[in-house]
Amino acid sequence: MTDYVDFNSQMWDKWSEGGNTWTIPVTHEDFVRSQNGELIIYLTPQKPVPSEWYRGLGKKVLGLASGGGQQGALLTASGYDVTIFDNSRRQLAAERSVAEREGYWIDLVKGDMTRPFPFEDESFDWIINPVSNCYIEDLTTMWSESFRVLRKGGALMTGFTNPMVYMFADEDMDLSARTPLACKFPLPYNGRHLEAGGKNISMDEGYQFSHTLESQLGGQTRAGFLIKALYEDTDDSCRLCKYSSLYIADLAVKP
Ligand SMILES: C[S@@+](CC[C@H](N)C(=O)[O-])C[C@H]1O[C@@H](n2cnc3c(N)ncnc32)[C@H](O)[C@@H]1O
Repeated sequence: MTDYVDFNSQMWDKWSEGGNTWTIPVTHEDFVRSQNGELIIYLTPQKPVPSEWYRGLGKKVLGLASGGGQQGALLTASGYDVTIFDNSRRQLAAERSVAEREGYWIDLVKGDMTRPFPFEDESFDWIINPVSNCYIEDLTTMWSESFRVLRKGGALMTGFTNPMVYMFADEDMDLSARTPLACKFPLPYNGRHLEAGGKNISMDEGYQFSHTLESQLGGQTRAGFLIKALYEDTDDSCRLCKYSSLYIADLAVKP
């Protein structure tokens, strides 16, 4: 049986070669803007994370599933001490390439967030986790390990896909499609179950999982977090964005 985490890791390596948006490192100009006090970071495609979510929380930041030379680079430019934990070799290489270009050192750790994190208890002030948990099947360890590695009063900021997106077939969501936008997949969408039912999982999509709001928000509260704030976001890449927001971001605090 395919190790789906390993398959997705190779897929992210391939997407990185192919120039997926979430794999393109920030420019030197972006880096300098951040150095000059204009920090703009993202959990979802379009809306920046409100600065009041992280202002005053402390400098030790974990970029969870956050390789690619984006949020980690901008945070470092802004004076944060960042560790990037990601399961794609190429995403970490992209992170390293920005660090070499700009002349700083950043802690890069390759690993799988479905397993215990390789960090001490209470070693971070906050965690930034841009949309990534659609690539893992079970969120329990991700939430409990995030809770464990945060100091008391620290915070987890997570972006995730609106589960509803997974009800529709990719080809129907295409902006140029003329087919009815009809529900195809019952939720929660589970790439592994669909494969068991005969679906071919390609490197273009990998194994994806919609999750429920209960496993996203309820999972965070079950791990001990208190949810303090939330926003919705969208992008303009598919037909569905004319009808609904496509992403959710939340701020969860360790009491
Ligand atoms: C949308 S990208 C987010 C990174 C983006 N460059 C950023 O900082 O905003 C999702 C990331 O999740 C990572 N990822 C997927 N599955 C993972 C897993 N099981 N453990 C750790 N990282 C994982 C991918 O390698 C990819 O870099």
